[in-house]
Amino acid sequence: MASAVEIKGIEKKYPGVVANHNVTLTVQKGHIHAIIGENGAGKSTLMKILYGMVRPDSGTISIDGKDVVLKSPHDSIALGVGMVHQHFMLADNATVLENVILGSEPVSFGGVIQHTAARDKLIEITEKYGLDIDPDQNVAELSVGERQRVEISKVLFRGAQILILDEPTAVLVPQEVDELFSNLKDLTAHGLTIIFISHKLDEVLAIADAITVMRTGTTVASVDPKSATKKQLAELMVGRELPKRREVSTQPSNKKVLEIENASYSAPDGREILHEISLAIHAGEIVGLAGVEGNGQSELIELIMGLVKTSGGTVSILDEDIAEMSSRKIRDSGVGYIPQDRQRDALLMSAPLWENRILGHQSTQPMSNGLWINKGNAQKDSERLVKEFDVRTPSINVMAGALSGGNQQKFIVGRELSGDPHLLIAAQPTRGVDVGAQALIWNYLIEARVAGMAILLISADLDELFNLSDRLAVISGGRIVAILDPEKTTSEELGLAMTGEKIA
Ligand SMILES: Nc1ncnc2c1ncn2[C@@H]1O[C@H](COP(=O)(O)OP(=O)(O)OP(=O)(O)O)[C@@H](O)[C@H]1O
Ligand SMILES: [Mg+2]
Repeated sequence: MASAVEIKGIEKKYPGVVANHNVTLTVQKGHIHAIIGENGAGKSTLMKILYGMVRPDSGTISIDGKDVVLKSPHDSIALGVGMVHQHFMLADNATVLENVILGSEPVSFGGVIQHTAARDKLIEITEKYGLDIDPDQNVAELSVGERQRVEISKVLFRGAQILILDEPTAVLVPQEVDELFSNLKDLTAHGLTIIFISHKLDEVLAIADAITVMRTGTTVASVDPKSATKKQLAELMVGRELPKRREVSTQPSNKKVLEIENASYSAPDGREILHEISLAIHAGEIVGLAGVEGNGQSELIELIMGLVKTSGGTVSILDEDIAEMSSRKIRDSGVGYIPQDRQRDALLMSAPLWENRILGHQSTQPMSNGLWINKGNAQKDSERLVKEFDVRTPSINVMAGALSGGNQQKFIVGRELSGDPHLLIAAQPTRGVDVGAQALIWNYLIEARVAGMAILLISADLDELFNLSDRLAVISGGRIVAILDPEKTTSEELGLAMTGEKIA
Protein backbone atom coordinates (compact mmCIF):
# COMPACT_ATOMS: atom_id res chain seq x y z
CA MET A 1 0.00 0.00 0.00
CA ALA A 2 1.25 3.48 -0.85
CA SER A 3 2.16 5.73 2.06
CA ALA A 4 -0.18 8.61 2.79
CA VAL A 5 2.73 11.04 2.56
CA GLU A 6 6.25 10.63 1.25
CA ILE A 7 8.59 13.60 1.47
CA LYS A 8 12.12 13.52 0.07
CA GLY A 9 14.99 15.96 0.03
CA ILE A 10 13.02 19.06 1.00
CA GLU A 11 15.08 22.26 1.25
CA LYS A 12 13.85 25.64 2.43
CA LYS A 13 16.00 28.67 3.14
CA TYR A 14 15.00 31.99 4.66
CA PRO A 15 17.41 34.93 4.82
CA GLY A 16 20.15 33.76 7.16
CA VAL A 17 18.36 30.51 8.13
CA VAL A 18 18.12 27.03 6.72
CA ALA A 19 14.62 26.13 7.90
CA ASN A 20 14.51 22.70 6.21
CA HIS A 21 17.45 20.72 4.89
CA ASN A 22 17.31 17.29 3.28
CA VAL A 23 14.05 16.44 5.01
CA THR A 24 12.77 12.91 4.56
CA LEU A 25 9.47 11.76 5.98
CA THR A 26 7.23 8.79 5.35
CA VAL A 27 3.81 8.71 6.94
CA GLN A 28 1.74 5.52 6.80
CA LYS A 29 -1.94 5.71 6.03
CA GLY A 30 -4.08 5.38 9.16
CA HIS A 31 -1.24 6.32 11.48
CA ILE A 32 -0.96 9.00 14.10
CA HIS A 33 2.50 10.33 13.26
CA ALA A 34 4.23 12.70 15.66
CA ILE A 35 6.89 15.24 14.66
CA ILE A 36 9.11 16.41 17.51
CA GLY A 37 12.16 18.64 17.74
CA GLU A 38 13.62 21.70 19.40
CA ASN A 39 12.22 25.18 18.89
CA GLY A 40 13.23 26.33 15.44
CA ALA A 41 14.01 22.79 14.23
CA GLY A 42 11.79 23.33 11.18
CA LYS A 43 8.63 21.42 12.12
CA SER A 44 6.07 24.12 11.34
CA THR A 45 7.89 25.02 8.12
CA LEU A 46 7.72 21.41 6.95
CA MET A 47 4.02 21.18 7.75
CA LYS A 48 3.32 24.47 5.97
CA ILE A 49 5.12 23.07 2.93
CA LEU A 50 2.91 19.97 3.01
CA TYR A 51 -0.14 22.22 3.30
CA GLY A 52 0.94 24.34 0.33
CA MET A 53 1.37 27.52 2.41
CA VAL A 54 5.12 27.66 1.89
CA ARG A 55 6.92 26.68 -1.33
CA PRO A 56 10.05 24.58 -0.82
CA ASP A 57 13.25 25.50 -2.70
CA SER A 58 13.58 21.89 -3.83
CA GLY A 59 12.57 18.34 -2.97
CA THR A 60 9.61 16.09 -3.75
CA ILE A 61 6.30 15.33 -2.10
CA SER A 62 3.99 12.49 -2.92
CA ILE A 63 0.53 11.94 -1.56
CA ASP A 64 -1.08 8.51 -1.74
CA GLY A 65 1.71 7.39 -4.04
CA LYS A 66 1.40 10.24 -6.54
CA ASP A 67 3.99 12.99 -6.97
CA VAL A 68 2.40 16.38 -6.42
CA VAL A 69 3.26 20.06 -6.67
CA LEU A 70 1.57 22.17 -4.02
CA LYS A 71 1.31 25.81 -5.02
CA SER A 72 -1.25 26.84 -2.41
CA PRO A 73 -3.46 25.38 0.33
CA HIS A 74 -6.09 25.13 -2.38
CA ASP A 75 -4.01 22.40 -4.08
CA SER A 76 -3.44 20.58 -0.81
CA ILE A 77 -7.10 20.67 0.18
CA ALA A 78 -8.03 19.25 -3.23
CA LEU A 79 -5.62 16.36 -2.51
CA GLY A 80 -7.21 15.75 0.89
CA VAL A 81 -4.65 17.50 3.10
CA GLY A 82 -5.99 19.76 5.85
CA MET A 83 -4.23 21.74 8.57
CA VAL A 84 -5.26 23.07 11.97
CA HIS A 85 -2.94 25.89 12.97
CA GLN A 86 -1.73 26.54 16.45
CA HIS A 87 -3.42 29.91 16.53
CA PHE A 88 -7.03 29.21 15.74
CA MET A 89 -8.55 31.18 12.93
CA LEU A 90 -12.26 31.23 13.76
CA ALA A 91 -14.62 34.19 13.53
CA ASP A 92 -15.95 34.86 17.03
CA ASN A 93 -19.22 36.48 16.09
CA ALA A 94 -20.44 33.63 13.91
CA THR A 95 -21.89 30.20 14.63
CA VAL A 96 -20.04 26.92 14.43
CA LEU A 97 -21.80 26.07 11.16
CA GLU A 98 -21.04 29.46 9.62
CA ASN A 99 -17.39 29.08 10.53
CA VAL A 100 -17.24 25.60 9.09
CA ILE A 101 -18.69 26.58 5.72
CA LEU A 102 -16.80 29.86 5.49
CA GLY A 103 -14.63 29.65 2.39
CA SER A 104 -15.60 26.18 1.29
CA GLU A 105 -17.17 25.99 -2.13
CA PRO A 106 -18.95 22.69 -2.67
CA VAL A 107 -22.05 23.82 -0.84
CA SER A 108 -22.40 27.20 -2.46
CA PHE A 109 -24.51 27.29 -5.60
CA GLY A 110 -24.47 30.51 -7.57
CA GLY A 111 -23.27 32.28 -4.46
CA VAL A 112 -26.12 30.98 -2.31
CA ILE A 113 -24.87 28.74 0.42
CA GLN A 114 -27.02 25.70 0.99
CA HIS A 115 -27.36 25.89 4.73
CA THR A 116 -29.50 22.84 5.24
CA ALA A 117 -27.29 20.57 3.20
CA ALA A 118 -24.19 21.93 4.91
CA ARG A 119 -25.75 21.53 8.32
CA ASP A 120 -26.65 17.90 7.59
CA LYS A 121 -23.16 17.22 6.34
CA LEU A 122 -21.56 18.77 9.42
CA ILE A 123 -23.79 16.78 11.76
CA GLU A 124 -22.95 13.61 9.88
CA ILE A 125 -19.21 14.32 10.28
CA THR A 126 -19.38 15.21 13.96
CA GLU A 127 -21.48 12.13 14.75
CA LYS A 128 -19.29 9.79 12.74
CA TYR A 129 -16.11 10.88 14.52
CA GLY A 130 -17.55 11.63 17.94
CA LEU A 131 -16.72 15.36 17.78
CA ASP A 132 -18.93 16.94 20.39
CA ILE A 133 -20.00 20.37 19.05
CA ASP A 134 -23.29 22.16 18.43
CA PRO A 135 -23.58 23.64 14.88
CA ASP A 136 -25.75 26.52 16.05
CA GLN A 137 -23.70 27.71 18.99
CA ASN A 138 -21.79 30.96 18.75
CA VAL A 139 -18.04 30.44 18.56
CA ALA A 140 -17.49 33.24 21.10
CA GLU A 141 -19.10 31.02 23.76
CA LEU A 142 -16.86 28.01 23.17
CA SER A 143 -14.03 26.67 25.29
CA VAL A 144 -10.59 26.18 23.74
CA GLY A 145 -11.18 22.44 23.36
CA GLU A 146 -14.49 23.07 21.59
CA ARG A 147 -12.92 25.62 19.25
CA GLN A 148 -10.33 23.08 18.33
CA ARG A 149 -13.06 20.56 17.49
CA VAL A 150 -14.64 23.19 15.24
CA GLU A 151 -11.31 23.64 13.45
CA ILE A 152 -10.98 19.88 13.01
CA SER A 153 -14.58 19.60 11.75
CA LYS A 154 -13.92 22.41 9.32
CA VAL A 155 -10.97 20.56 7.85
CA LEU A 156 -12.96 17.31 7.65
CA PHE A 157 -15.85 19.16 6.05
CA ARG A 158 -13.54 20.02 3.19
CA GLY A 159 -12.79 16.36 2.69
CA ALA A 160 -9.43 16.02 4.43
CA GLN A 161 -8.01 12.52 4.63
CA ILE A 162 -4.68 13.68 6.01
CA LEU A 163 -4.89 16.02 8.97
CA ILE A 164 -1.99 18.17 10.14
CA LEU A 165 -2.18 19.55 13.69
CA ASP A 166 0.52 22.02 14.79
CA GLU A 167 0.92 21.73 18.57
CA PRO A 168 -2.75 20.91 19.16
CA THR A 169 -2.32 20.14 22.85
CA ALA A 170 -0.31 23.23 23.82
CA VAL A 171 -3.50 25.12 24.62
CA LEU A 172 -5.48 22.30 26.21
CA VAL A 173 -5.96 21.25 29.83
CA PRO A 174 -5.43 17.56 30.61
CA GLN A 175 -9.10 16.52 30.28
CA GLU A 176 -9.30 18.23 26.89
CA VAL A 177 -6.14 16.45 25.76
CA ASP A 178 -7.79 13.11 26.56
CA GLU A 179 -10.86 14.08 24.53
CA LEU A 180 -8.73 15.20 21.59
CA PHE A 181 -6.76 11.97 21.60
CA SER A 182 -9.91 9.90 21.64
CA ASN A 183 -11.15 11.94 18.63
CA LEU A 184 -7.87 11.36 16.82
CA LYS A 185 -8.08 7.61 17.44
CA ASP A 186 -11.61 7.60 16.01
CA LEU A 187 -10.36 9.38 12.91
CA THR A 188 -7.54 6.92 12.28
CA ALA A 189 -9.94 4.02 12.91
CA HIS A 190 -11.85 5.37 9.91
CA GLY A 191 -8.69 5.33 7.80
CA LEU A 192 -7.66 8.96 8.15
CA THR A 193 -4.04 9.90 8.73
CA ILE A 194 -2.91 12.36 11.41
CA ILE A 195 0.38 14.23 11.57
CA PHE A 196 0.87 16.23 14.73
CA ILE A 197 3.60 18.34 16.29
CA SER A 198 4.14 18.32 20.03
CA HIS A 199 6.70 19.23 22.67
CA LYS A 200 5.07 16.99 25.26
CA LEU A 201 7.03 13.77 25.07
CA ASP A 202 4.77 11.81 27.43
CA GLU A 203 1.77 12.31 25.21
CA VAL A 204 3.74 11.61 22.05
CA LEU A 205 4.79 8.25 23.50
CA ALA A 206 1.24 7.53 24.61
CA ILE A 207 -0.59 8.23 21.37
CA ALA A 208 1.72 8.13 18.34
CA ASP A 209 2.11 5.12 16.03
CA ALA A 210 5.36 6.59 14.68
CA ILE A 211 7.66 9.45 15.65
CA THR A 212 10.00 11.53 13.51
CA VAL A 213 12.63 13.69 15.21
CA MET A 214 13.89 16.90 13.61
CA ARG A 215 17.02 18.77 14.58
CA THR A 216 18.37 22.00 13.02
CA GLY A 217 16.15 21.71 9.96
CA THR A 218 16.78 18.03 9.23
CA THR A 219 14.92 14.83 10.03
CA VAL A 220 17.42 12.95 12.16
CA ALA A 221 15.56 9.84 13.37
CA SER A 222 12.43 7.74 13.09
CA VAL A 223 11.53 6.22 16.40
CA ASP A 224 9.14 3.46 17.38
CA PRO A 225 7.09 4.75 20.33
CA LYS A 226 6.67 1.22 21.65
CA SER A 227 10.32 0.91 22.53
CA ALA A 228 11.45 4.52 23.01
CA THR A 229 11.78 6.40 26.30
CA LYS A 230 11.26 10.05 27.06
CA LYS A 231 14.94 10.51 27.81
CA GLN A 232 15.97 9.02 24.46
CA LEU A 233 13.57 11.30 22.61
CA ALA A 234 14.83 14.36 24.45
CA GLU A 235 18.42 13.52 23.65
CA LEU A 236 17.69 12.85 19.99
CA MET A 237 15.99 16.24 19.78
CA VAL A 238 18.60 18.24 21.57
CA GLY A 239 21.66 16.23 20.60
CA ARG A 240 23.04 16.58 24.14
CA GLU A 241 21.95 16.11 27.73
CA LEU A 242 19.19 18.24 29.18
CA PRO A 243 20.03 21.00 31.66
CA LYS A 244 19.76 19.83 35.26
CA ARG A 245 17.06 21.25 37.49
CA ARG A 246 18.16 23.59 40.24
CA GLU A 247 17.39 22.54 43.77
CA VAL A 248 16.10 25.25 46.07
CA SER A 249 15.93 25.36 49.79
CA THR A 250 15.18 29.02 50.47
CA GLN A 251 11.91 30.03 52.09
CA PRO A 252 9.65 32.86 50.92
CA SER A 253 9.97 35.99 53.07
CA ASN A 254 6.98 37.49 54.84
CA LYS A 255 7.04 40.69 52.81
CA LYS A 256 3.82 40.88 50.80
CA VAL A 257 4.52 42.04 47.26
CA LEU A 258 1.06 41.47 45.85
CA GLU A 259 -1.98 41.62 48.05
CA ILE A 260 -5.47 41.04 46.73
CA GLU A 261 -8.25 41.57 49.27
CA ASN A 262 -11.87 40.62 48.57
CA ALA A 263 -11.48 41.73 44.99
CA SER A 264 -14.46 41.30 42.70
CA TYR A 265 -14.83 42.07 39.04
CA SER A 266 -17.94 42.46 36.91
CA ALA A 267 -17.93 42.32 33.13
CA PRO A 268 -19.29 45.32 31.19
CA ASP A 269 -22.60 43.46 30.82
CA GLY A 270 -22.92 43.26 34.60
CA ARG A 271 -22.10 39.58 35.13
CA GLU A 272 -19.87 39.11 38.16
CA ILE A 273 -16.84 37.13 36.99
CA LEU A 274 -14.54 37.27 40.02
CA HIS A 275 -16.04 36.91 43.48
CA GLU A 276 -14.19 38.31 46.50
CA ILE A 277 -10.77 36.97 45.68
CA SER A 278 -8.16 37.17 48.42
CA LEU A 279 -4.58 36.14 47.73
CA ALA A 280 -1.15 37.37 48.75
CA ILE A 281 2.22 36.65 47.17
CA HIS A 282 5.38 37.25 49.15
CA ALA A 283 8.89 38.17 48.07
CA GLY A 284 10.72 34.99 47.11
CA GLU A 285 7.53 33.04 46.54
CA ILE A 286 5.95 31.40 43.51
CA VAL A 287 2.20 30.97 43.76
CA GLY A 288 0.76 28.70 41.08
CA LEU A 289 -2.74 29.49 39.91
CA ALA A 290 -4.43 26.27 38.83
CA GLY A 291 -7.77 26.09 37.11
CA VAL A 292 -9.66 24.96 34.06
CA GLU A 293 -9.36 27.67 31.41
CA GLY A 294 -12.15 30.24 31.54
CA ASN A 295 -12.66 30.23 35.31
CA GLY A 296 -11.52 33.80 35.84
CA GLN A 297 -7.76 33.49 35.35
CA SER A 298 -7.62 36.02 32.50
CA GLU A 299 -9.75 38.51 34.39
CA LEU A 300 -7.62 38.16 37.51
CA ILE A 301 -4.49 38.89 35.47
CA GLU A 302 -6.20 41.90 33.88
CA LEU A 303 -7.12 43.23 37.34
CA ILE A 304 -3.55 42.99 38.60
CA MET A 305 -2.18 44.57 35.41
CA GLY A 306 -4.68 47.45 35.68
CA LEU A 307 -6.33 46.56 32.39
CA VAL A 308 -9.73 46.37 34.11
CA LYS A 309 -10.96 47.83 37.41
CA THR A 310 -12.33 46.04 40.45
CA SER A 311 -16.01 46.30 41.30
CA GLY A 312 -15.14 45.78 44.96
CA GLY A 313 -12.14 45.06 47.18
CA THR A 314 -8.54 46.10 46.57
CA VAL A 315 -5.38 45.08 44.78
CA SER A 316 -2.11 46.42 46.19
CA ILE A 317 1.44 46.08 45.02
CA LEU A 318 4.07 46.74 47.71
CA ASP A 319 1.38 48.27 49.92
CA GLU A 320 0.22 50.67 47.25
CA ASP A 321 -3.38 50.42 46.09
CA ILE A 322 -3.38 50.18 42.28
CA ALA A 323 -6.97 51.40 41.84
CA GLU A 324 -5.87 54.74 40.40
CA MET A 325 -2.82 53.45 38.56
CA SER A 326 -2.67 53.01 34.79
CA SER A 327 -1.37 49.79 33.35
CA ARG A 328 1.78 51.62 32.27
CA LYS A 329 2.37 52.93 35.79
CA ILE A 330 1.90 49.45 37.25
CA ARG A 331 4.51 48.02 34.89
CA ASP A 332 6.88 50.90 35.55
CA SER A 333 6.59 50.34 39.29
CA GLY A 334 8.33 46.98 38.77
CA VAL A 335 5.89 44.42 37.41
CA GLY A 336 6.89 42.02 34.66
CA TYR A 337 4.18 40.44 32.55
CA ILE A 338 4.34 37.36 30.33
CA PRO A 339 0.91 37.26 28.69
CA GLN A 340 -0.72 34.05 27.59
CA ASP A 341 -1.28 35.11 23.98
CA ARG A 342 2.22 36.08 22.90
CA GLN A 343 1.40 37.05 19.32
CA ARG A 344 -1.45 39.34 20.32
CA ASP A 345 -0.24 40.88 23.56
CA ALA A 346 3.52 40.62 23.77
CA LEU A 347 5.03 41.15 20.34
CA LEU A 348 4.93 43.40 17.32
CA MET A 349 5.25 40.66 14.75
CA SER A 350 6.40 42.89 11.92
CA ALA A 351 8.95 44.87 13.94
CA PRO A 352 12.54 43.74 14.44
CA LEU A 353 13.42 41.82 17.56
CA TRP A 354 15.35 44.72 19.12
CA GLU A 355 12.30 46.99 18.87
CA ASN A 356 10.32 44.28 20.60
CA ARG A 357 12.79 44.53 23.48
CA ILE A 358 11.41 48.01 24.15
CA LEU A 359 7.74 47.02 24.01
CA GLY A 360 6.17 47.52 27.44
CA HIS A 361 9.41 49.04 28.75
CA GLN A 362 9.39 52.26 26.72
CA SER A 363 9.19 54.65 29.65
CA THR A 364 11.84 53.27 32.01
CA GLN A 365 15.60 52.87 32.15
CA PRO A 366 17.57 51.46 30.42
CA MET A 367 15.26 51.44 27.39
CA SER A 368 14.43 55.12 27.77
CA ASN A 369 15.16 58.15 29.89
CA GLY A 370 11.46 58.93 30.05
CA LEU A 371 11.57 61.06 26.94
CA TRP A 372 13.73 59.34 24.36
CA ILE A 373 14.12 55.71 23.43
CA ASN A 374 17.66 54.44 23.80
CA LYS A 375 18.14 52.39 20.66
CA GLY A 376 21.70 51.38 21.56
CA ASN A 377 20.63 49.91 24.90
CA ALA A 378 17.72 48.10 23.27
CA GLN A 379 20.04 46.51 20.75
CA LYS A 380 22.69 45.63 23.30
CA ASP A 381 20.18 44.09 25.65
CA SER A 382 18.51 42.17 22.84
CA GLU A 383 21.87 40.57 22.08
CA ARG A 384 22.14 39.59 25.72
CA LEU A 385 18.66 38.03 25.72
CA VAL A 386 19.35 36.08 22.56
CA LYS A 387 22.46 34.64 24.21
CA GLU A 388 21.15 34.01 27.73
CA PHE A 389 17.77 32.66 26.72
CA ASP A 390 19.06 30.70 23.75
CA VAL A 391 16.80 32.49 21.26
CA ARG A 392 17.59 30.96 17.87
CA THR A 393 17.65 33.77 15.34
CA PRO A 394 20.10 34.89 12.66
CA SER A 395 20.15 38.39 14.19
CA ILE A 396 18.29 40.88 16.38
CA ASN A 397 17.20 42.71 13.23
CA VAL A 398 14.90 39.89 12.14
CA MET A 399 11.14 40.51 12.44
CA ALA A 400 9.68 38.90 15.55
CA GLY A 401 7.15 37.14 13.33
CA ALA A 402 9.91 35.25 11.54
CA LEU A 403 11.03 33.50 14.72
CA SER A 404 9.63 30.07 15.49
CA GLY A 405 6.90 30.06 18.18
CA GLY A 406 9.11 28.72 20.95
CA ASN A 407 11.88 31.22 20.20
CA GLN A 408 9.40 34.10 20.41
CA GLN A 409 8.40 32.81 23.82
CA LYS A 410 11.99 32.59 25.10
CA PHE A 411 12.57 36.20 24.05
CA ILE A 412 9.47 37.42 25.92
CA VAL A 413 10.38 35.55 29.10
CA GLY A 414 13.86 37.06 29.00
CA ARG A 415 12.51 40.55 28.40
CA GLU A 416 10.03 40.37 31.27
CA LEU A 417 12.64 39.09 33.71
CA SER A 418 14.92 42.00 32.78
CA GLY A 419 15.40 44.76 35.29
CA ASP A 420 14.50 42.44 38.18
CA PRO A 421 10.83 43.31 38.70
CA HIS A 422 9.36 42.87 42.21
CA LEU A 423 6.44 40.97 40.79
CA LEU A 424 6.18 38.78 37.73
CA ILE A 425 2.86 37.69 36.27
CA ALA A 426 3.78 34.63 34.22
CA ALA A 427 0.92 33.20 32.17
CA GLN A 428 1.81 29.92 30.42
CA PRO A 429 5.53 30.87 30.45
CA THR A 430 6.67 27.70 28.68
CA ARG A 431 3.79 27.21 26.26
CA GLY A 432 5.19 25.98 22.96
CA VAL A 433 8.81 25.71 24.09
CA ASP A 434 10.81 22.50 23.78
CA VAL A 435 11.93 20.40 26.75
CA GLY A 436 15.38 21.94 26.85
CA ALA A 437 14.05 25.49 26.78
CA GLN A 438 11.43 24.58 29.38
CA ALA A 439 14.17 23.48 31.78
CA LEU A 440 16.05 26.71 31.03
CA ILE A 441 13.01 28.91 31.71
CA TRP A 442 12.15 26.99 34.87
CA ASN A 443 15.66 27.57 36.15
CA TYR A 444 15.46 31.29 35.42
CA LEU A 445 12.14 31.52 37.29
CA ILE A 446 13.57 29.62 40.26
CA GLU A 447 16.65 31.85 40.26
CA ALA A 448 14.44 34.96 40.23
CA ARG A 449 12.41 33.55 43.12
CA VAL A 450 15.57 32.87 45.14
CA ALA A 451 16.66 36.44 44.46
CA GLY A 452 13.39 37.65 46.01
CA MET A 453 10.95 38.06 43.17
CA ALA A 454 7.27 37.33 43.81
CA ILE A 455 5.79 35.29 40.97
CA LEU A 456 2.22 34.49 40.05
CA LEU A 457 2.41 31.49 37.74
CA ILE A 458 -0.68 30.72 35.68
CA SER A 459 -0.31 27.42 33.88
CA ALA A 460 -2.32 24.67 32.29
CA ASP A 461 0.67 22.38 32.71
CA LEU A 462 0.27 20.55 36.02
CA ASP A 463 3.90 19.42 36.01
CA GLU A 464 4.97 23.01 35.78
CA LEU A 465 2.69 24.02 38.65
CA PHE A 466 3.92 21.20 40.88
CA ASN A 467 7.56 21.73 40.01
CA LEU A 468 7.75 25.47 40.58
CA SER A 469 5.09 26.53 43.06
CA ASP A 470 5.52 27.14 46.78
CA ARG A 471 1.74 27.20 47.08
CA LEU A 472 -1.06 26.33 44.67
CA ALA A 473 -4.15 28.53 44.53
CA VAL A 474 -7.07 26.86 42.78
CA ILE A 475 -9.54 29.06 40.92
CA SER A 476 -12.97 27.78 39.95
CA GLY A 477 -16.03 29.76 38.91
CA GLY A 478 -14.22 33.01 39.67
CA ARG A 479 -13.43 32.03 43.28
CA ILE A 480 -10.27 30.83 44.95
CA VAL A 481 -11.61 27.49 46.16
CA ALA A 482 -8.46 26.03 47.70
CA ILE A 483 -4.89 26.83 48.66
CA LEU A 484 -2.83 23.65 48.47
CA ASP A 485 0.66 22.60 49.39
CA PRO A 486 2.21 21.05 46.25
CA GLU A 487 4.31 18.72 48.40
CA LYS A 488 1.21 17.22 49.97
CA THR A 489 -1.16 17.19 47.01
CA THR A 490 -1.52 14.61 44.25
CA SER A 491 -2.39 15.59 40.68
CA GLU A 492 -5.74 13.79 41.11
CA GLU A 493 -6.54 15.95 44.12
CA LEU A 494 -5.56 19.07 42.24
CA GLY A 495 -7.71 17.97 39.28
CA LEU A 496 -10.71 17.49 41.56
CA ALA A 497 -10.21 20.89 43.17
CA MET A 498 -9.98 22.48 39.71
CA THR A 499 -13.30 21.04 38.62
CA GLY A 500 -14.93 22.39 41.74
CA GLU A 501 -15.16 19.17 43.76
CA LYS A 502 -14.47 19.45 47.46
CA ILE A 503 -11.52 17.51 48.74
CA ALA A 504 -11.63 15.98 52.17
N1 LIG B 1 8.61 33.43 7.40
C1 LIG B 1 9.84 33.25 7.85
N2 LIG B 1 10.82 34.14 7.61
C2 LIG B 1 12.07 33.95 8.07
N3 LIG B 1 12.46 32.90 8.82
C3 LIG B 1 11.53 31.98 9.11
C4 LIG B 1 10.17 32.10 8.67
N4 LIG B 1 9.48 31.04 9.10
C5 LIG B 1 10.35 30.29 9.81
N5 LIG B 1 11.59 30.85 9.82
C6 LIG B 1 12.78 30.30 10.47
O1 LIG B 1 12.89 28.93 10.13
C7 LIG B 1 13.33 28.15 11.25
C8 LIG B 1 12.35 27.02 11.50
O2 LIG B 1 11.15 27.57 12.00
P1 LIG B 1 9.88 26.69 12.35
O3 LIG B 1 8.78 27.64 12.65
O4 LIG B 1 9.65 25.70 11.27
O5 LIG B 1 10.36 25.93 13.67
P2 LIG B 1 9.56 24.92 14.62
O6 LIG B 1 10.30 23.62 14.60
O7 LIG B 1 8.14 24.88 14.24
O8 LIG B 1 9.79 25.58 16.05
P3 LIG B 1 8.79 25.76 17.32
O9 LIG B 1 8.87 24.48 18.09
O10 LIG B 1 9.42 26.86 18.12
O11 LIG B 1 7.44 26.09 16.82
C9 LIG B 1 13.48 29.12 12.40
O12 LIG B 1 14.83 29.46 12.54
C10 LIG B 1 12.68 30.33 11.99
O13 LIG B 1 13.24 31.50 12.53
MG1 LIG C 1 6.36 25.59 15.19
